[in-house]
Amino acid sequence: MSSSTLSLDRLPSHVAIIPDGNGRWAKQQGQERTFGHVKGTANVKEIVTFAKELGIRVLTIYAFSDENWQRPLQEVEILMDLLKQYLIQERETILKNKIQLRAIGTIERLPKPVLEELKKTIELSSQNQEMILNFAVSYGARSEIIRAVQKISQDVLKGKYKPEAIDSAHFAKYLYTPDLPDPDLLIRTSGEMRISNFLLWQMAYTEMYVTQTLWPDFNREEFLKALLEYQKRERRFGLTEDQI
Ligand code: FPP
Repeated sequence: MSSSTLSLDRLPSHVAIIPDGNGRWAKQQGQERTFGHVKGTANVKEIVTFAKELGIRVLTIYAFSDENWQRPLQEVEILMDLLKQYLIQERETILKNKIQLRAIGTIERLPKPVLEELKKTIELSSQNQEMILNFAVSYGARSEIIRAVQKISQDVLKGKYKPEAIDSAHFAKYLYTPDLPDPDLLIRTSGEMRISNFLLWQMAYTEMYVTQTLWPDFNREEFLKALLEYQKRERRFGLTEDQI
């Protein structure tokens, strides 16, 4: 399979990824989970590079969820360390490729050294326009929605507007993604048929693609397969076929 069968003018603008299966991949190799996370991180680099080459405008990756804080401390530490290493090692490539790094989630919870590296890359890349790489770290969609409700309530209490003025477009401005298009495509690796508290509001009409392939094995060819499948879908956004 090659990218020649892909219509580059009909690419999804925003691709969201749940990179699942690092642990299972490591187990299959008779290795510790850490080994899977190391391979998974290397694969994040590969897929980010490929998405940029193809011309994807926004790529959101679920790197660490609100719930992941409850994993064994040692695993949390390893994931945090890998994120820090990624941010240090990839900074130059991100800047060279004119990628704008963003983060969504309660990033204040991150260990200070990780947060510093994250903020540094976000600041240095803030003017880049070729692709937005959006890391969901310490992210949960329910927390995001609650945070939005709190901010809206505060504005209502301040008398900025009445509750009746709140509609979908207004609400969306209070989420972590006020200026991003909703994801067109969600890719989830390793076969689980769940959303796992990811972008619940933004994914109302997102096309879902679930593959059995485990994240460390999700290579360029697998990514192309997902994009080709997306291009076969008919997106109706709740309308009838004739209305499209
Ligand atoms: C799922 O595998 C993966 C995660 C919980 C974290 C995702 C992290 C990475 C891909 C690496 C770090 C990311 C960046 C951006 C540098 P799992 O442990 O849930 O696997 P399992 O379901 O097979 O146990």
